[in-house]
Parts: sequence; structure tokens; C-alpha cells
Amino acid sequence: MSFPATRMRRLRGREAFRQLVRETSLTPRNLVAPLFVCHGERVRRPIASMPGHAQISVDEAVDKAKKLVSLGVGGLILFGIPAAKDPEGREAYDPDGIVPRAFRAIKAEAPDILLWADVCLCEYTDHGHCGVVKNGQVDNDRTLPLLARAAVTYAEAGADIVAPSDMMDGRVGAIRKALDDAGHADTPIVAYSAKYASGFYGPFREAAESAPQFGDRRGYQMDPANSDEALREVALDLEEGADAVMVKPALPYLDVIRRVKDRFQVPVVAYNVSGEFAMVKAAAQLGWLDGERVALESLTSIRRAGADVIITYFAEEIAPLLGRTRT
Ligand code: PBG
Repeated sequence: MSFPATRMRRLRGREAFRQLVRETSLTPRNLVAPLFVCHGERVRRPIASMPGHAQISVDEAVDKAKKLVSLGVGGLILFGIPAAKDPEGREAYDPDGIVPRAFRAIKAEAPDILLWADVCLCEYTDHGHCGVVKNGQVDNDRTLPLLARAAVTYAEAGADIVAPSDMMDGRVGAIRKALDDAGHADTPIVAYSAKYASGFYGPFREAAESAPQFGDRRGYQMDPANSDEALREVALDLEEGADAVMVKPALPYLDVIRRVKDRFQVPVVAYNVSGEFAMVKAAAQLGWLDGERVALESLTSIRRAGADVIITYFAEEIAPLLGRTRT
């Protein structure tokens, strides 16, 4: 049946019709908010390239967590700014490090939000790479036990989910075994399986002070030109025990999200990264586009591509806009 019997505009004519046939939902519980935690008290150091975001001390992070709970946001993921950096990234797996401290405080005061631990060494190493460096190269196998130690440290401090973002081979299996051996068999692993070597991480590296001091991350993160390889990464991480997988960044890789979702019937997380956030904010500040509208459209697109969960710097400002009509 075609025009004039069929008129696609009929179901677009009124908001009630549009709501009736809307295929994709976006709710605060689909969102995870990243926070950057640092030492000190009542510290709030704004991050220039990420308007509205700051490096915050643990007390401030607790307040933020309570606010996110009140907005219905599903989770938060912590990144730490350590007191000192060294070649082995020691503060990443120190039980008194900034992230374990923050987990303990937030768990005690805002227990109704899922706490995600990003597991990586780059914020903690003086060279800024995601693993230990040997002969100018990131040494995969020597990095695995350190990542496993970090994951156990976070689970012990109250993290509900551990999410390795380092892109070492075999890290999911190493972390799974370490968690199981330490009595955390019920702690899920969300693997950053398809993490691309991306220019979109620029603002994050300012926020987390984690830019590599030599070279780049192309030796371990994925080539933006590849997507078959993303499916292999996902398959391997699932075999090693990942409970859910991640694609990162999100908007330039919507096709990868879709392929992963179609191929594997597992929960898919997408990371709407710092550069994706900064671009919208910058254009909105210049009055070149409507920031809220573009943020909502971007997040909806990521969900439509197949992501169940989105890690996004928009979580706090967008959650209040997601009224009952959209759920
Ligand atoms: C690594 C990590 C990075 C991000 C999350 N985890 C940075 C990197 O690989 O350089 C980037 C997130 C973002 O850009 O928002 N620990």
C-alpha cells in the first residue's frame, strides 16, 4: 500500500502519537557518569575542556554521587588523580589510593548507585602508558598481574563492577581469576573490548593528567579503520569471562556497536567520550547549536545503534530531561 493510503506523517502529527511509536528509549538508569577524584578536602579544580566537570576530592564526590542517585542515574565510574606517579603505577593498586578511598566513602554514603572501577595504569604511571614499559614498549604480560591487583583492590573497596580499559591481551582472564581467588566471584567484568586509538580522548587526558609522555597508544588500542577486529576482541573477552563488553568512543563507532550487538547477545556498553562531549559543549557555547538537544539526540542514537548502557559526561545534565514520557 502506498500514497495516498499510506501517509507516514500521520503518526508524526502529534506528540502523543510520536510517543506511542517511539522505538528507542533513553532513561537515567541507562547512564553512567564519569568522575575524576583527587586528594584533599573540598577540592574542585575545573577541567577547561570539559565544562561542568572538575577534579574533585572524595567529599565532593560523595555529594555528587548523592545528586546522581536523586536523578536516577544508574552508575558512576571513577578515575583517579594520584598523589604521585611512578613507572609501575603503584597508586592504581594501593588500598589507600585515591580511588579505593573514594569507593569506600561513596559506598557508605550513597549505596544506591552502582560503582564502576576503570582498571588501567595510565593515570598512575609517570610515562602515561597503560602498562609497564620495558625497552620502550608496553610489556603486556608484566602488566597483567598489576591490573589484576588493581581490580581486586577496587572490588575490596566496594566497586560493584570492574572495567579494564588498558587493552592488554589476556587481561580479562587474569582479572577474572584474581577476583575469583580473592572471593569476588560475583563481581562482574565489563571489558573495554573495542577501544580505539582515538583523538577523541584529548580532553580526558587533560582531566586525568594521563597523556603518554612518549609515543602513543596505537600499539595496544585498536586502529579506527577496523571493525572485524572489534568482533574478535569481543569474542576473546567473552571467552575469558567478560560479563558485558564496551565499544569506545561511541558516535564515530556506531557501526561497531551495531555489529557487536547483532553478533553477540550480551549487554553492550558504549563510552561517549570526552571529545564527543567537548565538541558539543564548545559549539553550544558559541551558539552554533542547541547543546541539550544535540546531547539527547546523540545519546538516543547510541542507544538505537544497540548500546544498553552509555557512559557519558552528559549524565547529570541530561538525566533531569528524561521525563516519564521517554521511559
Ligand atoms: C584509560 C582510559 C581513557 C579513557 C577512559 N579510560 C583514556 C585513554 O585511553 O587515553 C578516555 C575516556 C574519555 O576520553 O572520555 N584509562
